[in-house]
Amino acid sequence: FSAGPMSGKRVLVTSGPTHEPIDPVRYIANRSSGAQGAALAVALRDLGAEVIFVTGPASVPPPAGVAVHRIETAREMLAAVEAALPVDAAIFAAAVADWRVENSLTQKIKKVAQTSPSITLSENPDILATVCAHPERPKLVIGFAAETENVVPHATAKRLRKGCDWIVANDVSPATGIMGGSNNTVHLITEAGAEDWPPLPKSEVAQRLAARIAEALA
Ligand code: C5P
Repeated sequence: FSAGPMSGKRVLVTSGPTHEPIDPVRYIANRSSGAQGAALAVALRDLGAEVIFVTGPASVPPPAGVAVHRIETAREMLAAVEAALPVDAAIFAAAVADWRVENSLTQKIKKVAQTSPSITLSENPDILATVCAHPERPKLVIGFAAETENVVPHATAKRLRKGCDWIVANDVSPATGIMGGSNNTVHLITEAGAEDWPPLPKSEVAQRLAARIAEALA
């Protein structure tokens, strides 16, 4: 039993990158430390929520006191997410690989002088969009939008395209230091428009967002 404004609420958080194997020793992936997702899980847990944490191979360890489901690929993440439904809210902080390697091999690819293997990519499922269109769609669905330009317009369009309630948008241009760093500067996009939050530690972004989630579910 946990007291708190989120007690009795079930919340799903996806976090970290996915890895899409090329062969048993190589993969393609997005850059993601999993720090923001882990901070969110902590903040929601601390408000008393039951947290289901579906994580790819992140560099930050999963927090204590949450139900951890470790996956590697996007398709495994989708399966774990669908298995976790129904939930009251779902937050998609994972950096999912948009493509997987269609011609992945079960044996290590050998180097052959003067030839390079070709990788063929095929599209991965969009987990956020799938959950938004799901018969068991959670009451509150929140996506993230990591952008490098026109952050708010791109994120506003993404909110409508994916069918989610809120988008947490950030500028991840290398100069910002957000990727792998401990601070984050986000814009919260809702039906009402965009709110610009000040630069904050990822833990504080998580606490503010968790408080807003609690308010929306109350
Ligand atoms: O389209 P884009 O990748 O920029 O969208 C980002 C949002 O969508 C994030 O919340 C991310 O977790 C989610 N996403 C997903 N499945 C994908 C791609 C993105 O859930 N295949």
